[in-house]
Amino acid sequence: MSGSTFGKIYKLTSFGESHGLAMGGIIEGMPSGVFVDEAFLQKALDQRAPGRSLVSPRKEKDTLKILSGVFENKTTGAPIAFIVENQGFDSTPYDAIKHLLKPGHAQYTYLEKYGIYDHRGSGRASARETLCRVVAGAFANLVLKDFGIQIESFLKKVGPIDCQYEKDFSSDIFCFDSINESKVKAFLENLIKENDSCGGIVGCKISNSPVGLGEPVFDRFEARLAYGMLSIPATKGFSIGEGFSSTLFKGSEFNDHFCNIEGKVGFTSNHAGGTLGGITTGQEIDFEVAFKPTSSIKKAQETLDLELNSSVLTFDPSAKHDPCVAIRGVPVVKAMAEMITLDFLLLNKLVKHSHVACN
Ligand SMILES: Cc1cc2nc3c(=O)[nH]c(=O)nc-3n(C[C@H](O)[C@H](O)[C@H](O)COP(=O)(O)O)c2cc1C
Repeated sequence: MSGSTFGKIYKLTSFGESHGLAMGGIIEGMPSGVFVDEAFLQKALDQRAPGRSLVSPRKEKDTLKILSGVFENKTTGAPIAFIVENQGFDSTPYDAIKHLLKPGHAQYTYLEKYGIYDHRGSGRASARETLCRVVAGAFANLVLKDFGIQIESFLKKVGPIDCQYEKDFSSDIFCFDSINESKVKAFLENLIKENDSCGGIVGCKISNSPVGLGEPVFDRFEARLAYGMLSIPATKGFSIGEGFSSTLFKGSEFNDHFCNIEGKVGFTSNHAGGTLGGITTGQEIDFEVAFKPTSSIKKAQETLDLELNSSVLTFDPSAKHDPCVAIRGVPVVKAMAEMITLDFLLLNKLVKHSHVACN
């Protein structure tokens, strides 16, 4: 099995299965001399973890343990190895249904390709792997902060409900919309009662990025974003700027015109989403990621068993699942954007190792 490494210079290799001993990763390419704020890293991890309202209440206590690459609270430039032990999971609800193909999940393709599947927690298909990305994203953020680059992600849509982003509104489900947050919660409560799930759209903005990130031709900034975002489980779409709606504009309407802002090049609009020719323009980079409805639902579903007999799949009522995985996708989208942005800064040689004078 390949495909567990992401990045060119700032690289994450992740490992682990959700019902194994631990999840973990190795980060390469982290600049040296960066102050490691462990409380900040842990907080990022807590944002992804289940256990809050309206996301899966599984009791996973995600505690970050850094094994290498940090000395006296600073990065050394060496590979950073970390683990998060898996705790509080119960594999038994999955035993009764292990002979059934789960619609919408990875079991069929894994069995066809590898001949073996960890039915307890889906092995490498488990989205618990995304915690490794959140750790690598938070480490990257420690560097991005010094550049003043800010990355924010938020819910843009849950099922049929659109959400507007309000900067100063706080929400435990990342729906920063003072008017619609309660509607979203009521919609999700109802879905839980119906034993069903829904999809959602996560929005993300990268602000204050420098001009010049992105490499022609295969490593265009938006191409790497799309690749990173579509590597998150359950994602079905990526768009930047006006995205698919770009087709509805005339050229005269779509083009972002240049203007002189205090002696510097500015733009009168941002339909393109912050890139031209695959290279960042210095405008806000603004993109969306679509998530499908959670596949593991408690509603009975027709399926096949492994001998191809017709059967009905009903999840154990005690098994807990998210009604909308887009909610927990919000910190993951941010983490991927953080990793990609730092990777491009490193490719541009904009980040230097910190030098400490030897006495
Ligand atoms: C943060 C996060 C949490 C997820 N939790 C669940 C879950 O509880 N149940 C589920 O069926 N799928 C969940 N998924 C999605 C599955 O991992 C994914 O649908 C599955 O691996 C099949 O891959 P695919 O949908 O990309 O084809 C989650 C995804 C993310 C990003």
